[in-house]
Amino acid sequence: EVNVYSSPTDLSRVCAALRGVNRKVVLVPTMGALHAGHRELIRRAKRIPNTVVAVSIFVNPLQFGPNEDLDRYPRALDDDLRACAEEGAEIVFTPDAVDMYPPDAVTTVQPGPLGEQLEGASRPGHFAGVLTVVAKLLNLTRPDYAMFGEKDYQQLILVRQMVKDLHLSTRIIGVPTVREDDGLALSSRNRYLSDQDRKLAVALPTALAAGMRAGPDGVAAVLAAATESLAATSEVELDYLELRASDLAEPPEFGEARLLIAARVGPVRLIDNTGVQLG
Ligand code: PAJ
Repeated sequence: EVNVYSSPTDLSRVCAALRGVNRKVVLVPTMGALHAGHRELIRRAKRIPNTVVAVSIFVNPLQFGPNEDLDRYPRALDDDLRACAEEGAEIVFTPDAVDMYPPDAVTTVQPGPLGEQLEGASRPGHFAGVLTVVAKLLNLTRPDYAMFGEKDYQQLILVRQMVKDLHLSTRIIGVPTVREDDGLALSSRNRYLSDQDRKLAVALPTALAAGMRAGPDGVAAVLAAATESLAATSEVELDYLELRASDLAEPPEFGEARLLIAARVGPVRLIDNTGVQLG
C-alpha cells in the first residue's frame, strides 16, 4: 500500500531514512489526474533495482499564468492514489500550496534564454514556476533518479540543465511519449476536447509524422511537410512549429533533431514533439 504524506518535512525525513538503509529513491513529479503516460513513468521507475518510488501530486500554482487553467485543472486524488498503488509506488506526496509556498517565500529558479522560447514565448514565467517546484521536490526527496516525460520535451531539457547548473546529483530519466491508438499524445487536458475536436487533434501527431518522414531530405523539407500536413485541418490553430537540435539550444544541421508543435484545438492548447533524423 502507498504511504501518503502531505507535510514536506515528513516526506524529507522518510526519504532520508530510506537512503540511510541503502534504498534508492526515484521521484516521479506530477500534477495528478494520472493517465497511462504518468503510469508509464512509474513503471519505468519500478524497473530500476532496489528503489522506492515516490510520486508527487501537486498542481503547482507558480507555473500557471493569470489567464490559464489553474482553477479548472483536473483534480482526482482518489483515482490517483489507486493508480499509484496499482503501479507499485510506495510513497505519494500531496502537499498543500501554503506549505510549498509559505507567504514569506521569495526565491525562485530562473531558466536561461530557452525558458522564453517555444512554450515560454506563450507562457511567460511558466518554466521558472516549473523549475522552482522541481528544485524543491528534488531537495525534499534527494532522489537518485527522477522521471520526466518527453511529452514535455522543453521541460525535460530545462530540468536537465538546472540539475547540471545547480550541481544537483539526481539522474534525470526521459521517458518516451505514451500515445492513444491514433497517435494523440496522452494529456490531462485531452478530456476538455469535444468529440469533434478530439478527432481533429490527431492533426498534431500526423503533422509530426509527416515531418519525421521528410528527415532524409533536410530541415526545409521537414518543416514544409509538417506545415502542409497541418494545413489540411484548418480548424487547428497553429501556435508554433519548430525544428531544433536535440538540446533545443542550437539550430539543427544534420543528425538527431527535434520537431516541436503547439496548437489550439477548440478551447484546448495542445503540445507534442518527435525526434527527427536529418540528412
Ligand atoms: P504533468 O503534466 O502532470 O506531467 C507529469 C509528468 O508526466 C511529466 O514529466 C510529463 O512529461 C509526463 N507525461 C505527461 N504526459 C505524458 C505522456 N503522454 N507520455 C509520457 N509522459 C507524459 O509536467 C508536469 O506535470 C509539471 O510541470 C511538473 C513536472 C510535475 C512540475 O509541476
